[in-house]
Amino acid sequence: MARLQAVRGMADILMADTPRWRYLEETIQAVFSQYGYQEIRLPIVEKTALFTNAIGDQTDIVAKEMYSFDDRRGAGLTLRPEGTAGCVRAGIEHGFFHNQIQRLWYQGAMFRYERPQQGRQRQFHQMGVEAFGLAGPAIDAELILLSARIFKKLNLDNVRLELNSLGLASARLAYRQILQDYFKDHQTQLDSDSLLRLAQNPLRILDSKEPSMQALIQAAPLITDCLEPESADHFAQLTAILDDNGIAYTINPRLVRGLDYYTKTVFEWVTDAAGAQNAVCAGGRYDNLIEQHGGKNTPAIGFAIGLERLLALSTHAGLLDRAVPHVYMIRSDPPPIARYMKLAETLRQALPQLRLIADCSGASLKSQFKKADKSGATLAIMPLDDDQIEIKFLRDNQAQIQKNHTEIIHFLAQKLFSEE
Ligand code: HAM
Repeated sequence: MARLQAVRGMADILMADTPRWRYLEETIQAVFSQYGYQEIRLPIVEKTALFTNAIGDQTDIVAKEMYSFDDRRGAGLTLRPEGTAGCVRAGIEHGFFHNQIQRLWYQGAMFRYERPQQGRQRQFHQMGVEAFGLAGPAIDAELILLSARIFKKLNLDNVRLELNSLGLASARLAYRQILQDYFKDHQTQLDSDSLLRLAQNPLRILDSKEPSMQALIQAAPLITDCLEPESADHFAQLTAILDDNGIAYTINPRLVRGLDYYTKTVFEWVTDAAGAQNAVCAGGRYDNLIEQHGGKNTPAIGFAIGLERLLALSTHAGLLDRAVPHVYMIRSDPPPIARYMKLAETLRQALPQLRLIADCSGASLKSQFKKADKSGATLAIMPLDDDQIEIKFLRDNQAQIQKNHTEIIHFLAQKLFSEE
């Protein structure tokens, strides 16, 4: 039989790592709450057309990376490659955009058929926010301040902010033409990927990492020169708020993002530490997307953090206590098993913070005591055949003692939780 293996690019997150994941998730959630964002949980599967329309059919995500399939009735479905489209669909479907301001957050697995490498997986995890109904630059600044607060809480100082404005759809269209003309004039210098992008999505040529293309890209016309006054003013106000709040940033006029829905502000938090996959958190404004999907005109902006990339950076971030048990309960025979299980339940009921493992192995006492020691528990307890319970101190040299069923609750509370 073939060896069992997870799907390529889809990693298990094992017990040694889950405390760090929990720590990240809880820290980020706490910051989301500080800014009044509410959680939304969305399906992992959506109709394929939602992503094709929202993200754009010429983007890499839609053209090459979606996990799409037909269900049993032939409906085209896709594992979500990102969270924004689903959020927009839900808002239109449930009518929660209409004349309302919404600040939402979500988290979960996303799927993209990319070539797996360090920091790039086929199943990866995002935590993101989306704010709806706010058109001015204040909310752009809020999202950036919120993300900066997350990095500060995690003690990360190796990330920096890049900002750009893509303008209104009209500016983007004008820029697209200028860029297409420019790259056409230099067609012989384009690599094969860029040649493919030239007709459909010339902005994406700016994203090329190909070394031979860099001089050409550096000399390309800038979107900044095409911005209409409205977008230029929005951007200037945003940078002024950031300056006032001590947020450092670089304006990168070549930051175009890999999804087509953006208008005006786009930003990425990048790191130089993790090699080629340098964006840890990315987002921007998408003021046209809701209307394009049949909703009322609703300004919107959001971002998503890639948790795998964040985790790779935050090696010094604090850890949650692993779920080390306080007490390991040894079973001798007699007493009968029902009494043994009942005592375990009584203790859990009386002391809700108590983490107690009841040994269910039926192994020898010697082997149970070994397991108790390995579990990291502070105490091993063993009900005897009368009302007594033997207590062994696993982490210090105190002599073992006995308590009866009534005394033990008080004893455990004192011993384990009196300073907590
Ligand atoms: P995105 O730039 O495609 O934007 O992804 C956001 C973040 O997800 C990236 O910066 C990266 O950290 C992480 N990420 C993306 N692909 C992978 C991968 N294959 N493996 C590991 N991590 C990955 C979006 O998804 C937009 N929905 C963000 C947004 C929200 N814009 C507005 N609202």
